[in-house]
Amino acid sequence: MAKRYRADVLTIGSGAAGLATALHLADRAKVTVLSKDALRGGSTNRAQGGVAAVTAPDDSFDAHVEDTMAAGAGLCVESAVRMTVARAPQAIEHVVGLGLEFDRAGNAPHLTREGGHSHRRVLHVADATGAAIARTLIERASAHPNIDIVSGRVAIDLITAAKLGERTNRTLGAYVYDVYADAVDVFEADFVVLATGGASKAYLYTSNPDGATGDGIAMAWRAGCRVANMEFNQFHPTCLYHPASAQTPGSGSFLISEAVRGEGGRLLLPDGSQFIHRFDKRAELASRDIVARAIDHEMKRLGADCVYLDISHKNADFIAKHFPTIHGRCLELGIDITKEPIPVVPAAHYTCGGAIVDLNSRTDLPGLYAVGETAYTGLHGANRLASNSLLECLVFAEAAAQDILSTRESAPRTGGPVPPDWDESQVSDSDEQVVLSHNWTELRRAMWDYVGIVRTNKRLERAERRIDLLKREIHDYYARHRVSADLIELRNLVHVAALIVRSAAMRKESRGLHYTLDYPGKLPNPQPSIVFPAADPLDVLQPFPARPSRARRNLANRSAS
Ligand code: FAD
Ligand code: SIN
Repeated sequence: MAKRYRADVLTIGSGAAGLATALHLADRAKVTVLSKDALRGGSTNRAQGGVAAVTAPDDSFDAHVEDTMAAGAGLCVESAVRMTVARAPQAIEHVVGLGLEFDRAGNAPHLTREGGHSHRRVLHVADATGAAIARTLIERASAHPNIDIVSGRVAIDLITAAKLGERTNRTLGAYVYDVYADAVDVFEADFVVLATGGASKAYLYTSNPDGATGDGIAMAWRAGCRVANMEFNQFHPTCLYHPASAQTPGSGSFLISEAVRGEGGRLLLPDGSQFIHRFDKRAELASRDIVARAIDHEMKRLGADCVYLDISHKNADFIAKHFPTIHGRCLELGIDITKEPIPVVPAAHYTCGGAIVDLNSRTDLPGLYAVGETAYTGLHGANRLASNSLLECLVFAEAAAQDILSTRESAPRTGGPVPPDWDESQVSDSDEQVVLSHNWTELRRAMWDYVGIVRTNKRLERAERRIDLLKREIHDYYARHRVSADLIELRNLVHVAALIVRSAAMRKESRGLHYTLDYPGKLPNPQPSIVFPAADPLDVLQPFPARPSRARRNLANRSAS
């Protein structure tokens, strides 16, 4: 039986972005937080290295800005970078105030180093920083009387005034699938915050959890928001290569933190020789795009399955203390990192693009915000600097909350159309689940093979043709069958994959994470690649008719692709 819920603010996502936003709001607004799986199911819980922030006396905001912009390869939005860097210490203080305990070295936080950073600047909790952040935020949010956290709910699409025939568009809430009740509910809210994480599951091999299907980016796009820089998919250079962990499609590759290189880990070819200095003078501490491309190049040149990351020259106690998670996981798989090198390969790790937002986290649609990996703030440009992502979640969560609270107080929302129930009168139960599982794998393999670390026009064209076909099949399936979590995610993933390919095809140069053999050079005056809301009816549906008949409303709901 479908239900209706109402809150002042609906936050879709329970990672660092969603929960931090909720906590900043909750003293002055009622917030519902949705999670499509377990509360710790997102990338936040997996984060290892830490959070970048200037806290050391020999470091400076200018240096952090410079490193971020250098990694971003000419495409960072300077105002976003400066704001994030300047607010970083206060964001750190906020989470410490919530109870988070970063590792310490005497009276100051212990700072680790990662690729692209000119200083030791990364605050961390051993090699499990994300788990500590997730635990702290979940505990605080669960205890707050104004925050209602609901898991097992998959948001399908935003409900907007335009879809209901209003002339002035704004967000009214979302249709949300309840995986336990197998029903679609209506969540109404004055403001909606998309905090659904990234889209790295578009690739066959990824460090991300299964839910990284770009739902928020796809929902924002379908609701009429612009999306930017989707071609910049970050591949983490060092994910564990092991049959039981890495390279198992669907399972998510286990990450070997960049902090291992920061603390002296060396990259080796299968014959034991070092190679990364041939690609960049910063060697192991070069930025991620360079290291991932170098590894990809060497693996292809040698026909090797992996390269190796060796930290065994360091003291065993140091390794066990700094990297207990990595040490423990590798030991379970029979690799003692205190004694032997770790087999590693690159895997899809982070989505630099997303729904375009301003410095207050506002998207193009009134009342709709995006925070965290879902959003494009301009901070990362063409390549994200390590440990700037959790920071972005925290800084932009506060910006979103402040903007929502001031908007709410200066112009309270009243009245407006009542969203109709989700209409299932013209659909049947899913009859061929195999279509979904087949399309999942086909889509992700095509993205891995044709839209990976090194691209060409031909590969992108191949990907586009396949994705187009898959989009039609998935759309057809979606229009005829009752929704399930898999179907909702697959529909989002195919839209996000199409956005990635379209953006990659638009960029006629190689920059940051986008490298194409057809345009190896950089163009002067680089611009973000902006994809405007869809003209293709398979991407987005026309607004709902003013007074939809049941059948027409069904069509609108169901095929709002
Ligand atoms: P997530 O934490 O991914 O949360 C997304 C949430 O949205 C989840 O709760 C999910 O259930 C929910 N959701 C998604 N779709 C829906 C839907 N349709 N309906 C309802 N709910 C939905 N960054 C750093 O800065 N430092 C690091 O050390 C670091 N290490 C990393 C290590 C790994 C292995 C990975 C994968 C990433 C790492 N990153 C790191 C990146 C960083 O962790 C993420 O970018 C960041 O945590 C994203 O936070 P988020 O809140 O935007 O999304
Ligand atoms: C890592 O620990 O290597 C991940 C850091 C990041 O993604 O920022």
